[in-house]
Amino acid sequence: MEAIILAGGFGTRLRPLTYTRAKSLLPILNKPMISYLIDYLPKEVDKVILAVNYRKNQIERYFKENDFGKEIIVNDEPEPLGTGGAVKFAEKHITGRFFVLNSDIICSLNLDSMIKFHKKNNSASTISLWPVENVSEFGVADVEDDGNIVGFVEKPKPEDAPSNFINAGAYLLEPEVLDYIEAGRLISMEKEIFPQIIDDTGRFFGFKFEGHWRDIGRISSYIDVHKFLMRKEKMENYVGESPEIHGKLSDCCIGDNVYIGNNSKLNSVIVYDNARIEKDVVLQNCVVGENCKIGMSSDLKNTVLGDNETLNENSVLDNKAVWSQPIPEGYPKKQIGNVIGE
Ligand code: GTP
Repeated sequence: MEAIILAGGFGTRLRPLTYTRAKSLLPILNKPMISYLIDYLPKEVDKVILAVNYRKNQIERYFKENDFGKEIIVNDEPEPLGTGGAVKFAEKHITGRFFVLNSDIICSLNLDSMIKFHKKNNSASTISLWPVENVSEFGVADVEDDGNIVGFVEKPKPEDAPSNFINAGAYLLEPEVLDYIEAGRLISMEKEIFPQIIDDTGRFFGFKFEGHWRDIGRISSYIDVHKFLMRKEKMENYVGESPEIHGKLSDCCIGDNVYIGNNSKLNSVIVYDNARIEKDVVLQNCVVGENCKIGMSSDLKNTVLGDNETLNENSVLDNKAVWSQPIPEGYPKKQIGNVIGE
């Protein structure tokens, strides 16, 4: 069985981290985000098609260097085709019922149970559903008691919401669904293709699950998923290899070869490999990219430093994205992907 993993987005909301890295390779507890997804694929999935575009070489290299015991095909889109276009572009590798999975989600969805649910309902398309409180930020499924989805309502007022279930970014599809997608153009699976399948087949189901679900779209959710996983594993902090840490950490994830000077205090901070943070620095809710240097007595809140950035001593920043290098060619000025929520 095949699984298409959507990993071609630019991850604009996670810039400047994504100026140098594919979003799906951003580390979570020092392991690329996409590795969590590959690890939880059912045995039945023996072929993984990576739908890639931006930073495809990094993704290809990662999978050459790491064996997950499955056939991996890197399917390189000539240009970003959106979630629907990427699925169509992978059609040549599809031999039967297949998964489509967003690469930027960490969750407890059981894909084996989803397959059983899909078969029982003779579904053409089954999507995972996750309950939320803030329906007005999401596309909400109009789902009947048996799981049949009859439509979606974008960002409804709470009183108008047909349910509190949103599309959780994992789809199980029959090959017939591919006929709904026009080849070679930017198409959203969620906005353009799903409504057609609902209208035409009436066999569009939602699979609800419990446990946890985190969509890593923004810096805040990227920091949050670290804290969530550390709590789950009962870790106060996560520290990589060869650390030299003289300061105090709370709720932090620290990469390899990181130096943190005397009397520095870090709270809810992710620090990538080879960063150097001098003494008397205070960091709160920040991400510090690889090889970054932060001068002594700096004070940063809600701030992200892209890879290889240097801040002078006594820097004070709040709510900033630090990037002093050229923006990669072709990187969009604004979001072009299609967001599950927001
Ligand atoms: P933002 O720019 O911050 O919205 O991030 P994104 O580009 O990752 O978009 P979004 O979060 O909507 O993407 C959801 C999933 O679809 C992610 O796993 C993306 O990598 C993937 N994705 C989005 N657009 C494309 C595309 O054009 N091609 C492919 N292959 N994957 C895509």
